[in-house]
Amino acid sequence: MCGIVGYVGKRRAAPVLIDGLYELEYRGYDSVGIALSDGKRLKIIKKTGRVQEIEPAREERGNVGIGHTRWATHGGVTERNAHPHAFKNIVLVHNGIIENAAFLKEECLERGETFSSETDSEVIAHLIANVYRGDLLKAVAEGTKRLVGSYALAVMCIEEPDTVVCARMRSPLIAGKGKDGLVVASDVPAAAEEGATLFALSDGEFAKLKGEDLFFYDASLHEISKEPIEFDPVDDVPDLKGYRHYMRKEIDEIPKVLSLSQAKISRNSCFSDFYEVLCQTKYIQIVACGTAYHSGLCAKEAIERICRVPADVYVASEYRYGDPLIPDGTLVIAISQSGETADTLAAVRLAKERGAYIAAVTNVTYSSLTRLADTVLYTKAGREIAVAATKSFNAQLMTLYSIVSALAATLGKEAPSVGGLSAMAESAVITAESVRSWTPHFAGAKSAYFIGRGADRYAAMEGSLKLKEISYLPSEGYAAGELKHGTLALIEKGTPVVAVITRREIADKTMSAIHEVYARGATVFLVTCFPELCKTPEVTASAVIPECPPEYSPILSVIPLQMLAYYTSVARGNNPDKPRNLAKSVTVE
Ligand code: AGP
Repeated sequence: MCGIVGYVGKRRAAPVLIDGLYELEYRGYDSVGIALSDGKRLKIIKKTGRVQEIEPAREERGNVGIGHTRWATHGGVTERNAHPHAFKNIVLVHNGIIENAAFLKEECLERGETFSSETDSEVIAHLIANVYRGDLLKAVAEGTKRLVGSYALAVMCIEEPDTVVCARMRSPLIAGKGKDGLVVASDVPAAAEEGATLFALSDGEFAKLKGEDLFFYDASLHEISKEPIEFDPVDDVPDLKGYRHYMRKEIDEIPKVLSLSQAKISRNSCFSDFYEVLCQTKYIQIVACGTAYHSGLCAKEAIERICRVPADVYVASEYRYGDPLIPDGTLVIAISQSGETADTLAAVRLAKERGAYIAAVTNVTYSSLTRLADTVLYTKAGREIAVAATKSFNAQLMTLYSIVSALAATLGKEAPSVGGLSAMAESAVITAESVRSWTPHFAGAKSAYFIGRGADRYAAMEGSLKLKEISYLPSEGYAAGELKHGTLALIEKGTPVVAVITRREIADKTMSAIHEVYARGATVFLVTCFPELCKTPEVTASAVIPECPPEYSPILSVIPLQMLAYYTSVARGNNPDKPRNLAKSVTVE
C-alpha cells in the first residue's frame, strides 16, 4: 500500500508529481520521493516523513518524472529505503511486495552488485538494468519476468529521458492523457484532471508514456488498445470545510451517504441478473478485512434473522488459505471500501476458481475488485480520506441491508424497511457528540472493552477497532456473555467498558454483564435505544440512539463509538486521519 505517480508532458513535472502524491498520501506516509529528468540527467529527491517534506523540490526543472509515497513493508522507515530506487541507468518506484526478493537479491550480490537499501523494490531496478539493451519497455518486460508477488511500477532510464514505462501485476495502476501531458498513478484521484482520459491497466500489462503518446501492451509486448474508464468528477477533491479532521467531517456525512447507498435490487431493476442469482442462493459466504469484515458480520446477523439463509463471514486472509468448501448455491459477497485489499482480492480469485458467483460491495468505481466480481453494488460514501473507516462502514451496511431486503423478497418474506435509517442517523450523529465527555476516562486508560450480544457485539467490535487504530489504546470488542469465561480477569478499577444494547429481549442479559464488570471496578458507558436503561446506577454516562429494527442497529449504534474513538485520539495528541503504521488501502499481503 504505497502510492506511485508519473508524468510526461509540457509542464514541469515536479509540481504535478507532488500534487499527485498528496492525493496518494492515504496509501502510506512513511517516506516520499521523486525522480526528475531534464533531458540530460536524472535527479532523485527523497525524504522520510510526509509529502510536504519534498515541497522544496517543487521548483525543480524537468518535465518527465516519477514519484512515490511509502508504507514500509521491507526495510525500516529511512531515507535510504525511500523510493525512487536506482541501479546503474534505471530509476523506479514500486507499489507491492516481491515475495522472492531475497533469492533474487542473493543472485545480484553473488555477481558483485551492491545495494543501497533494504527494500525488495531495489532488486527490481537491478533486474531491469541487467537486461537493458537500449529499449526500456523490453527491459522492463524482461526484468519483471522472474518476479513473484505484486507490483505496480513506473520506470525511467537515463538513455530515454522522455519516457516512463509502467508495469502492473496485482497492484492497481491507472494511466491516462490530460490536457498538458501523460500521467500514471496508483488511483484515479491522483491522475484525474478536467477532461482527462484514463485507463486501468490489467495484470501483466505494460504502458509506455513517451512524449505526447501513450501506448499499452500485453504480456507479450503486443500493442493493445484499451477502453477508457469512467470516474467521479474531479471536483471530488478533499476539502476539510472547516473541520479539524476529515474523520470528524466524514462521521457527519453518514446520514447523507446512507440514503445514497441504498440499492434497489429487484427483477425489474438494473440488478435483475443479481436478483435471479439471489433466487437460487442457498448459502452466503462473506469475505472481507478489518472494518469491512465487521460490516460482513452485521450483514450475517440480518441475513440469518430475516431471511433464515445460512451465512458465514470470513477474514479474507484466512479464507484464501483455508481451502473453503463452496457448495452449489453459494453466493460469495466481497466487501471492500477500496476494492484493492490484496487479501480480499485473493479470496475472491479463489472463490471464482471454485465456481462461486461473486457480488462485490465497494466504494471505488474502477477498483480491481470490480473487475473480478460478477455483480458490483457501489456504496455511495464518496471519497473517505481518513484512514479509519467511518461513513464507508455505515454505507456498506446500507448496501448490505439492501441485499437482505432483496433476498427476503425472493423468499416471500418482508424485511424491515431501511427507509428511516438516514434520518435516524442524523439524530444519532447529533446525540453522539455527547460522548466527548467520556474522553477523560479513555485518554488515560491502559485498555478498554466494548461488549454486546448479536448485532450489538459486532458494533462493539467495530468500535474497538476504531479506538485501537487511531488512539493506539489496547481494546477488545467482546461478546458480553463471554467475559466471565476469562477476559473478566482483566477488568480492574477504572477500566472503561462500553456496553451496546439495542435488542430488548436480551437487554437484561447484557445488563448482567454490566453488573459483573462494575462489581470489579469498571467505569461503565452505555450506547442504547432504550433511555430507561441509562438510569441504571452502574452506568456512568450513556448515548441514546433512535430505536430501529434490531437487525439493522449497528448502522446507528456504531456512530457514538466512532465519535468516541475520534475524540479519544485527539485527546491523546494523535492525528486521527493518519494513524501511525496504517494506510487506507492494504494492497499487499
Ligand atoms: C478500517 O478503519 C481500517 N482502516 C481497515 O481495517 C480497513 O477496513 C481494511 O483494511 C479493509 O479495507 P477495504 O475495505 O478497503 O478492503
